[in-house]
Amino acid sequence: MIRKISFTVLAALTMLTTACAQEPTLKGTLGKHFLVGAAVDTSLTNGHDARSADILRTHFNSIVAENCMKGENIHPEVNRYDWSDADKTVEWGLRNGQTVIGHCLVWHSQPPKWMFTDEKGDTVSRECLIGRMYSHIMNVVSRYKGKILGWDVVNEAVNDDGTMRQSPYYKIIGPEYIELAFRFAHEADPNAELYLNDYSMSKPGKRETYCRIIKELKAKGVRIDAIGLQSHHGYNFPDWAEFEKSIDAFSKLGVKLQFTEVDMNMLPNPDSFSGAEVSQHFNYDEALNPYRNGMTKKGIKLFNERYLEFFRIIERHKADIRRVTFWGVTDNQSWLNGWPVPGRYNYPLLFDRDYKAKPVMYDIMKLF
Ligand code: XIL
Repeated sequence: MIRKISFTVLAALTMLTTACAQEPTLKGTLGKHFLVGAAVDTSLTNGHDARSADILRTHFNSIVAENCMKGENIHPEVNRYDWSDADKTVEWGLRNGQTVIGHCLVWHSQPPKWMFTDEKGDTVSRECLIGRMYSHIMNVVSRYKGKILGWDVVNEAVNDDGTMRQSPYYKIIGPEYIELAFRFAHEADPNAELYLNDYSMSKPGKRETYCRIIKELKAKGVRIDAIGLQSHHGYNFPDWAEFEKSIDAFSKLGVKLQFTEVDMNMLPNPDSFSGAEVSQHFNYDEALNPYRNGMTKKGIKLFNERYLEFFRIIERHKADIRRVTFWGVTDNQSWLNGWPVPGRYNYPLLFDRDYKAKPVMYDIMKLF
């Protein structure tokens, strides 16, 4: 009798466990080692994209605003901030258990439109720009003090060949603008992590210059926690060996690594295309849009191989990695559908247009 009961109990328990056995998730697997994030646009945090929101809650534990915290949006006029979307994004993130990341304080692209000129349209002085940068950083960072884990303080400061980007910040203030921006952000929220962030980090020139900048900041006692490798990859770039060399070089300097804007551009681009330089635009051409009716088997195979190779590298370096963030949730709303060529169908993320996880996601999770 007892044996019969225990058998029944055991069988019931097994059924129950099977029923409860959950599908693996990104945050449950990769998330044991580092934060797993996605960039969100306002449709999601305003409640207009419930399906992406579900995916986010299930698979991710970190968010970053795709656009609404950038200067042109959050600080449209010299004496006016527009906090509406940024506030909603931060609140949505916290309500949904997400670690929120701030992007970005100082960037030549999408800056506050008024930042570099005075009322007459003349370029502002060095002192004036330092003052404007100070109040922008102070106001934005202190508003979210204690709510945002860390900030991309300076975005895309270096050209692919390793020379400094001649951004208005660089030209008007000089190379010290980077150090100043970090000091201001630290003053606004001493507990916030502070990051540098850039694309095409496999390029040797860029690697060298970022190593120099990190060393200089550290030597001066300026807080820098991590370097962000945007990781806007493609089917034919970067060279993974060079990419891993950059990872090794940055890790040796004692900063954490973050892969901050991961996607895999599967479409061909004109020769002069350079990865994620947002000022580049090309005309639509059928030849640049080969997968309008869906990816070919060959394309999918390549996509899987590229993603797996990338995540094998991540797995090898997991001890030094703080965060991996995808630039979007599903292929539907990826910026790569409209850039650098308008009107294309791209397939860069782990969730497809029907909000379904792609098979490679499960293979990635197996690596961890
Ligand atoms: C992109 C957004 O995804 C687009 O919606 C916007 O039109 C342009 O900017 N590097 C960055 C990101 O740091 O902020 C950029 O995001 C992509 C390249």
